[in-house]
Amino acid sequence: MGDLANINWSELGFSYMKTDKRYISYWKDGKWDDGQLVEDNKLSISEASTALHYGQECFEGLKAYRTKEGSIQLFRPDENAKRMQKSCKRLLMPEFPVDRFVNACKEVVKANEKYVPPYGTGATLYLRPFLIGVGDTVGVKPAPEYIFCIFCMPVGPYFKGGMAPVNFITTDYDRAAPSGTGKAKVGGNYAGSLLPHAEAVKKGFADCIYLDPRTHSKIEEVGAANFFGITKDNKFITPISDSILPSITKYSLLYVAKEYLGMEAEERDVCIDKLDEFTEAGACGTAAVISPIGGIEHQSKLHIFYSETEVGPVTKKLYDTLMGIQLGDVNPPEGWIVKVK
Ligand code: PLP
Ligand code: COI
Repeated sequence: MGDLANINWSELGFSYMKTDKRYISYWKDGKWDDGQLVEDNKLSISEASTALHYGQECFEGLKAYRTKEGSIQLFRPDENAKRMQKSCKRLLMPEFPVDRFVNACKEVVKANEKYVPPYGTGATLYLRPFLIGVGDTVGVKPAPEYIFCIFCMPVGPYFKGGMAPVNFITTDYDRAAPSGTGKAKVGGNYAGSLLPHAEAVKKGFADCIYLDPRTHSKIEEVGAANFFGITKDNKFITPISDSILPSITKYSLLYVAKEYLGMEAEERDVCIDKLDEFTEAGACGTAAVISPIGGIEHQSKLHIFYSETEVGPVTKKLYDTLMGIQLGDVNPPEGWIVKVK
């Protein structure tokens, strides 16, 4: 292992930290330039950039993990690259090639190696790729130029509890419309989520649960994470909807539940009035990893799943298997792990 930054790794939360290098590539006249690593963490862009006015912006989130042996690896970066291409299509932005995306992630991790947390600290290196429309455009139309960038920072748990359960409350706000941008990872979805999030936190909850925008009767998302529940007959269930962000963690867990834990696993509707079909529930995502849900408050009633203080056994097994794969302790399915060094 090379030199490590002087950081109290196990105390990290999910906050910005400037690391040494970031990757940047510019798109102009129909093509991306070669891209490079830079030290400056400030961007200088036109005041008329579409990213600033019309939200022509998308982003991704993925992590680098240090293994027991000290090597460093990425988890399914090609899936993030492909999802970003879909977000770009939705917002009429030029797509960044998948192979270049994966290589740029590797370059950023290597250039910031001292910030990759040691194995066993519970911390990881979070990478934030983003792509924005820039240049002089004030009309509502696609930008003439684009910037693709990846920065990174070491992080700990996204929800304060980590593997301790936290509670959520449903909100009347929608994060996405039925045929809107919910399945794309675009900035506008998150701007609209700030108020419902703040209201949930003010009431003492970790975040809010969004229901389906058409009927407000089915669970869609848990803040910036997907939902899963474990039924009494040990099935892994996660909601299906066109306005949910297709979480790479969620699809990985569907596979892990079936292929590693021998469970039945299914995407289907999850009715907010039928929470008692689940013995355990959780939020899952790159930042959230797996965060056990203690309870959900809906229409002034708090429904408790397994426990408000202890993680359930199936959630724990899912967490251990997924983290085991990500950290190199459990054999991965083919193609899931990309070695950085
Ligand atoms: N849902 C939302 C709204 C998110 O922002 C994220 C984070 O990316 C997720 C779910 C989880 O997706 P993933 O597992 O790909 O990180
Ligand atoms: C992620 O899990 O990567 C996210 O993007 C969630 C949130 C930090 C926006």
